[in-house]
Amino acid sequence: MTTPTIELKPSSHPLPAAEREQILAAPGFGRHFTDHMVTIKWTEGRGWHDGQLVPYGPLALDPATNVLHYAQEIFEGLKAYRQPDGSVATFRPDANARRFQASARRLAMPELPVETFVEACDLLVQQDKDWVPAHGGEESLYLRPFMIATEVGLGVKPANEYLFVVIASPAGAYFPGGVKPVSIWLSEDRVRAVPGGMGDAKTGGNYAASLLAQAEAAARGCDQVAYLDAVEHTWVEELGGMNLYFVYGAADNEKPVIVTPQLTGSLLPGVTRDSLLSVARDLGFESEEGRISIDQWQNDSAAGTLTEVFACGTAAVITPVGTVKREGAEWTQSGGEPGKVTLKLREALLDIQRGVTADEHGWMHRI
Ligand code: COI
Repeated sequence: MTTPTIELKPSSHPLPAAEREQILAAPGFGRHFTDHMVTIKWTEGRGWHDGQLVPYGPLALDPATNVLHYAQEIFEGLKAYRQPDGSVATFRPDANARRFQASARRLAMPELPVETFVEACDLLVQQDKDWVPAHGGEESLYLRPFMIATEVGLGVKPANEYLFVVIASPAGAYFPGGVKPVSIWLSEDRVRAVPGGMGDAKTGGNYAASLLAQAEAAARGCDQVAYLDAVEHTWVEELGGMNLYFVYGAADNEKPVIVTPQLTGSLLPGVTRDSLLSVARDLGFESEEGRISIDQWQNDSAAGTLTEVFACGTAAVITPVGTVKREGAEWTQSGGEPGKVTLKLREALLDIQRGVTADEHGWMHRI
């Protein structure tokens, strides 16, 4: 694997500071973008080349560019946080880089070296460091690395040219309500991914496939859709764009056990999901990967043993689940309020990311 150098060609017209500050005061999610982006090309026979940090702007693509027709595309999401001393650090960029490689293998795309992925993110954050929101709040700088097939032609085959790009966007809460619990529609007919398919790759097609079920969830007044496995239509997998955790035994001060659906190949191996298995143990909770059926979710909630449910992901951080609906039934988790275990885990994770507590796991990457 070649490791290209990245040439710096900064913008001579960055956004004026006053306008940037106005955006940073209420960034929302994925609505504003920083002054620069990093691009690196890959060509068969040549490998990775022409790495550049350039002003943020449109990509010119021929209408017959492969990705526009056959969706050979992968992406990542990670965040940079302002630390108490004013410096900036990203959370587990190497984990995202390795998942990006796994997604590339699944989509028959070239693998970007881990160090190039991390360097591209570092350079963009360094260049646009004024876009990293202030320390202490919920806000961060969301990085979106992605790769597209750029060969021009309509033949269905792995392309012989690709473009890797990293863009950055200041981010507040993914859900407009912030830490307010979200409502979930349990879809029993639509599936997100099938065994042997692409469910464990971070590719746009999985998100496109989720949109109809997401719209059906919205039509039922729900914020998100939860998917079951594609074979038995029984086992809970994940939401449209984030993983799920179930909290058992928190009600009467028993030691909580947090359970997340195991990686079956058809759900995304989330970096936040993985981190929480460790953060929970740090807090003295038990954590495990397991199988939860749709009926178990409903029955254990009714019995009071399943006390809290939350969604997690880079964008969503940790978001409590309040109301759950399925055909013919509706119930609330932890009285529709954020659960105390959920909030403890959220604070513990955010404290590591914001540099407020010691990074015992070596997850933070100083830039
Ligand atoms: C992320 O959490 O980074 C994602 O890619 C999920 C997406 C729904 C924003």
